[in-house]
Amino acid sequence: MSLVSVSDYEHKAIDKLPRYALDYYRSGSDSQTTLELNKTAFQRLRIRPRHLRDVSQRSTHTTVFGYEFNVPIGIAPTAMHRMAHDDGEIASAKAAEKFGTVFILSTLSTTSIEEVARQAPDVHKWYQLYISKDRELTKSMVRRAETCNYKAIVLTVDAPIFGIRRADVQNKFQLPKHLKLENFAEKGIVNSDGGSGINEYVKKQFDASITWNDVKWLVGFSKLPVILKGILTKEDALLAVETGCKGIIVSNHGARQLDTVAASIEALPEISKAVGDKLVVMMDGGITQGTDVFKAIALGARMVFLGRPILWGLTVDGQNGVEDVLKIVCNEFDTTLALAGTPTVGDISKEYVLHEIEFSKL
Ligand SMILES: Cc1cc2nc3c(=O)[nH]c(=O)nc-3n(C[C@H](O)[C@H](O)[C@H](O)COP(=O)(O)O)c2cc1C
Repeated sequence: MSLVSVSDYEHKAIDKLPRYALDYYRSGSDSQTTLELNKTAFQRLRIRPRHLRDVSQRSTHTTVFGYEFNVPIGIAPTAMHRMAHDDGEIASAKAAEKFGTVFILSTLSTTSIEEVARQAPDVHKWYQLYISKDRELTKSMVRRAETCNYKAIVLTVDAPIFGIRRADVQNKFQLPKHLKLENFAEKGIVNSDGGSGINEYVKKQFDASITWNDVKWLVGFSKLPVILKGILTKEDALLAVETGCKGIIVSNHGARQLDTVAASIEALPEISKAVGDKLVVMMDGGITQGTDVFKAIALGARMVFLGRPILWGLTVDGQNGVEDVLKIVCNEFDTTLALAGTPTVGDISKEYVLHEIEFSKL
């Protein structure tokens, strides 16, 4: 049977992946309450379509930081793509290139900053950063990204330590021996305390003491614009403006960090209202179909990112699989533009979406 939705890809990937990898990719933290919310929050939003508008000519193009993209749907940074497929991050980056969209490389990638740049030179790339205890190492990561023509630094701010993903603890997760975290000198992930190896690695490597002063430090020396990923409140969004960041990604890290926080789509309206045009607001979390993309844009996102859907595509068929996942979601988004009466991305506004509670009050 042909695969026609992200959900089809997910099911196929579930059959294909070894248990430790599937659990690593799929899990949220703790009771996975937010993981469920990331999905159901989209279902609680209803689209208010407008009809009898000429939608024969449509465009999914968007502009972010002065760059034009074919679609407002990019690839979120997710760790260790080579657990899904041998071609790993290269396959995902090339798929993004084909779609004329953004690829964000994770710090915890199984292909290095340089190798992605060498093998996918033309994709529009951003580099996702965690601040290490060793600040010179952190600085060198930023310099490597600058040298390799990445266009932005995405600092993840919701992970001073990693959330507890119960399946990883049960599995005593570690990276298979033939794979490496290629951006680091200490490349392997092993567990020595019997828990999740990734949590142990992060505790050792990354700095849980970082504050807004470190954001200022990064903005001060980076030649690339800094985007903060993991913002969930208007207060932090306004601090991002104050510290000179150029963008934020409203995100709960795919529900893998603090459990019971809001779904990203629930947090988005207060943030976009508070910051207006002061910086570029983007979001990720729970997006699996075109109508989700539409709702996120209506509530203030300029661009959205897919995390797990990309991993499912990669697992099923490498670069082809990622391309097909992007094709499915982009086609659904284009169909939504037509059926909602908004032929371009710029036509979408908050009047097109209403929460189910508001409907019941009408
Ligand atoms: C397996 C996996 C690994 C991830 N690794 C990272 C990472 O290394 N850095 C980061 O900032 N976010 C990471 N994230 C979070 C994603 O960037 C993104 O916020 C999230 O996946 C979006 O939700 P979605 O999976 O529902 O699309 C990861 C998410 C998953 C599922």
